[in-house]
Amino acid sequence: MDSLFGEAAASRERIAEGAVLLRGFAHDVSQRLMDELAKIVETATFRHMVTPGGYRMSVAMTNCGQAGWVSDAQGYRYDASDPVTGMAWPAMPPAFCQLAEEAARAAAYPGFEADACLINRYEPGARLSLHQDRNERDYTAPIVSVSLGLPAVFLFGGVRRKDRPRRMRLESGDVVVWGGATRLAYHGIAALKDGEHPLTGRCRINLTFRKAL
Ligand code: SIN
Ligand code: FE2
Repeated sequence: MDSLFGEAAASRERIAEGAVLLRGFAHDVSQRLMDELAKIVETATFRHMVTPGGYRMSVAMTNCGQAGWVSDAQGYRYDASDPVTGMAWPAMPPAFCQLAEEAARAAAYPGFEADACLINRYEPGARLSLHQDRNERDYTAPIVSVSLGLPAVFLFGGVRRKDRPRRMRLESGDVVVWGGATRLAYHGIAALKDGEHPLTGRCRINLTFRKAL
C-alpha cells in the first residue's frame, strides 16, 4: 500500500543514534489533526498539571488513548481515566494512530502501536524543562512527537542529564521520533516565542505518541 505520508518522509534528518527528524511529515494532515483535537478537548479540557514538587506546569496538557500521562503531588504516571472528569480519556482518533505508525515506520521503527497520546499546548513563554520519558512500561517502542502551530526550539540531549543538548527549530508539521539508543534521551522545549500561526493562533500544540501500557 502506498504511504499517505510517503513524499514528506523523504526529508529525514538523523539527530542522533535512533533519533530522526521528519520535516513536514504531518504537514498535509495538520488541519485534520486540529479538527480531531477540537473534539477531544470538548470532554478532556486542557489543564495545567502540578509537579510532584508542587510547581504548576506552564504547558497545558490533556490526553487521548487508553492511558493518559498525569502529574500531581503523588507523582508522574499513566492513568486510564481523566482525574478532572473521572471518565476514560477520549479514544485515540484513527488519524492520530495512523500518523504515529507511519512516522515511526519512516524512522525505521515499524509496527508502532501507540496507546497513549499526550497533548501539550504551549502559549508564549511556556517551556518544558529537560526530562526523560520514562513512565512507559516498555522502552523498546519509540516516542513520536508531532509539532503544530508556532515554531519552537527543541532541546535534545543525551541519556545523561549533563549531556549538552542540541537545539533544533521545530515547525508546524515536523515530526521527531526517538527510540533505541536514545529512547531515554533528555529533551525539552525552550520558552515559546510569541507569534500568531494560521493553524493554531497564538500557541504551539504538540502531540506525543507513546506505547505506555
Ligand atoms: C514532551 O516532551 O512531552 C513534549 C515535547 C514537545 O513539546 O515537543
Ligand atoms: Fe517528553
